[in-house]
Amino acid sequence: MIKTVPTTPFKDQKPGTSGLRKKVPVFQQPNYAENFIQSIFDSLEGFQGKCLVIGGDGRYYNRDVIQKAIKMAAANGFGKVMVGKGGILSTPAASHVIRKYKAFGGIVLSASHNPGGPTEDFGIKYNIGNGGPAPEKITDAIYARTTIIDHYKIADFPDVNLDRIGRDDVGGMIVSVIDPVEDYAALMEELFDFGAIRNLISLGFRLCFDAMSAVTGPYAKDILENRLGAPTGSVRNFMPLPDFGGHHPDPNLVNCHELYEEMMSDDAPDFGAASDGDGDRNLIIGKGIYVTPSDSLAILAANANLAPGYSHGIAGIARSMPTSGAADRVAEKRGIGIYETPTGWKFFGNLLDAGLATICGEESSGTGSSHVREKDGLWAVLLWLNILAVRGESVADIVGQHWAAYGRNYYSRHDYEGVDTDAANGLIASLRDKLPTLPGTKFGDLTVSAADDFSYHDPVDKSVSNNQGIRILFEGGSRVVFRLSGTGTTGATLRVYIERYEADSTRHNIETQEALADLIVAAQSVADIRGRTGRDAPTVIT
Ligand code: G1P
Ligand code: ZN
Repeated sequence: MIKTVPTTPFKDQKPGTSGLRKKVPVFQQPNYAENFIQSIFDSLEGFQGKCLVIGGDGRYYNRDVIQKAIKMAAANGFGKVMVGKGGILSTPAASHVIRKYKAFGGIVLSASHNPGGPTEDFGIKYNIGNGGPAPEKITDAIYARTTIIDHYKIADFPDVNLDRIGRDDVGGMIVSVIDPVEDYAALMEELFDFGAIRNLISLGFRLCFDAMSAVTGPYAKDILENRLGAPTGSVRNFMPLPDFGGHHPDPNLVNCHELYEEMMSDDAPDFGAASDGDGDRNLIIGKGIYVTPSDSLAILAANANLAPGYSHGIAGIARSMPTSGAADRVAEKRGIGIYETPTGWKFFGNLLDAGLATICGEESSGTGSSHVREKDGLWAVLLWLNILAVRGESVADIVGQHWAAYGRNYYSRHDYEGVDTDAANGLIASLRDKLPTLPGTKFGDLTVSAADDFSYHDPVDKSVSNNQGIRILFEGGSRVVFRLSGTGTTGATLRVYIERYEADSTRHNIETQEALADLIVAAQSVADIRGRTGRDAPTVIT
């Protein structure tokens, strides 16, 4: 039986950089999740009888929303739902399942790297048939719908048993509960030389992967330990927990400081890595060396041809605007395309679909390729392992040789979290007003060469996205970028991205913050961060 339930709009359902993210108690309000899910369905056309993929990162409230989504999909006319066992599907695995089974789209329940638990974060994101996040045209339509919604449709049948793999006909719709790992692991075996990696490990190469009690645990256990032969215990914190064990599942140097310290110690393993809440981010640390995501993107792109899935070379590289220009130098040397997009994975979809780019990345620990339409944490780990196996060199050697060949882009991001929203908006607005006056201005020894608010012109669908971040470029190629986060759930987060290029290899071993010191001072002075936010120092430096 289908029920039509009257409802009234909530005023705060605007999707951000990656879907709708709110605290769990917000999502627990009567009709809150239902309104958003119905608004998604109301913004789509032609899905009658088709398949919808549903899965999440296992965080608190995941199973509840999955049951609602299944019943609403049935009531709205989907013919089939594919859902991961236990409600689990990592974001890249969901993307792959959508593509492999030619589903109409998918609902991914996650707040990515944000904490989970009864008072922490939850999120809902819609992905389209290419497996990628819905483009702005659709997210804008979803938001518009949330502001006027007056009813939703839900089928009345008992909760689906998510813990048993199999197919059932419920309320006239097929529900297929699938193994969340199998299809994804098979795809990884196609892309990478598992034999070479297995051989490397059998020769004593030591790796350690921290799944942060989040969704990549089952994937990493199966792939790294079962299939590639890494000793039991190589994958840590592999049980997905609803609150991620109370940790913040964002694989940065603050949250992964234990792994970092271990990797810097004398008896460090050869390779350390971690992924985030929903499995799309990665942290890569070699013995004695942390690899910045921007460098990792450039190095993976430069060496991708060593993996079977990319042996014919790559078509192009795409990076988000705040990501360092290290990848640009690889593209330039190889004579392949380089694309600079706004922050957020959704902007890569068109470039990947059109075959313009093969490898994409963001400074925020996201790297991926055309194999799915999301960033993919384990994919980056496996490509690194494939490269290490073929080159037979250490991470530090590979990074050092890369800098010697291409130069080094010193890079850091300073985040000011939980800033007063008006203060943060004021800071950006005042920078925007100042833009025309900045060229020629001196900050110490630095001279501004250009300044703008980044606009992206999509080469495929010709859409234009304005106001994507304030860029201040200095003579010599250094730059500072300011933007506000679109994924935070408390106040505003100001992100300041700082970059300096150094060609001279005798100057490649300076401590990062020291190498960027004069740019950090310039950023402070041009934006008056202290005066406007009341903060003396960033909350997180990566
Ligand atoms: C952040 C990252 C961005 C990433 C997004 C989703 O968004 O900066 O690169 O795509 O999370 O993982 P932000 O909070 O900056 O809007
Ligand atoms: Zn994520």
